[in-house]
Amino acid sequence: MTTIGLIGSGHIGSALARLAVAAGHEVVLSNSRGPETLSDLVAELGPLARAATAEEAAAAGEIVVVTVPFTAYRKVPVEPLRGKVVIDTNNYYHERDGHIPELDDESTTVSEMLQEHLPGSKVVKAFNNINFAHLAELPRPAGSPERSAIPIAGDDAAAKEQVTAFIDSIGYDVVDAGPLAEGWRYQRDTAAYGTVYVTPGTTYPDWTAQPAPVAVVEEALAAARRYGDM
Ligand SMILES: NC(=O)c1ccc[n+]([C@@H]2O[C@H](COP(=O)([O-])OP(=O)(O)OC[C@H]3O[C@@H](n4cnc5c(N)ncnc54)[C@H](OP(=O)(O)O)[C@@H]3O)[C@@H](O)[C@H]2O)c1
Repeated sequence: MTTIGLIGSGHIGSALARLAVAAGHEVVLSNSRGPETLSDLVAELGPLARAATAEEAAAAGEIVVVTVPFTAYRKVPVEPLRGKVVIDTNNYYHERDGHIPELDDESTTVSEMLQEHLPGSKVVKAFNNINFAHLAELPRPAGSPERSAIPIAGDDAAAKEQVTAFIDSIGYDVVDAGPLAEGWRYQRDTAAYGTVYVTPGTTYPDWTAQPAPVAVVEEALAAARRYGDM
């Protein structure tokens, strides 16, 4: 059992918390409005869950998931995350987040920016490429031909091993996409982003989930093109 800290408990944070608790992990949830606003979710999740401040969730988690709107990433507490494994689920949408020149010109990536904000932490990019409802639907036991894979990227091998074990425990295989700088391979609008887990012919909001096993995710990562090359 691992304690998972969640900085952000919205669509993706709560979906991950449900999967983590189902797998027997403890979760410490947080949001921007305060722990008392998470009482319904804590009640739903049961005794393995509690709510706290973002600082407390960061301090409590052996793995801490940062899953806030991209524009809030600089508010993520730095000190309590020093030395920790941090999963980054975030995505950049200039329509929503405003234009960020270094992301527009692709001189960096979202997760490298979080890593810069958290220089003492070990950031691993994961779960950014799967819709929260599909994330909840697609877990399968190890060995199932219908088991989906989640790509990860990061610069610390031990951190990636810890994240791989966590992802395996909640019902997914992992594809290692390489160092953090390779995280662009499954950023917005790439082949491995979102639709790889969507049944062909179904569209938002009526889309349904389709398993994307390791080979499918590997192929999509290999097919990735930079925005500028599209
Ligand atoms: N939705 C998806 O299917 C999906 C899939 C993959 C990746 N993502 C990405 O994951 C990130 C989160 O997406 P989401 O859909 O889960 O967002 P969301 O539903 O809007 O939830 C955001 C969460 O972050 C919390 N938050 C905001 N500022 C915070 C702060 N300073 N400290 C602590 N918590 C804070 C919010 O708390 P309050 O409500 O109290 O403000 C809320 O719990 C985004 O970058 C998104 O692009 C989303």
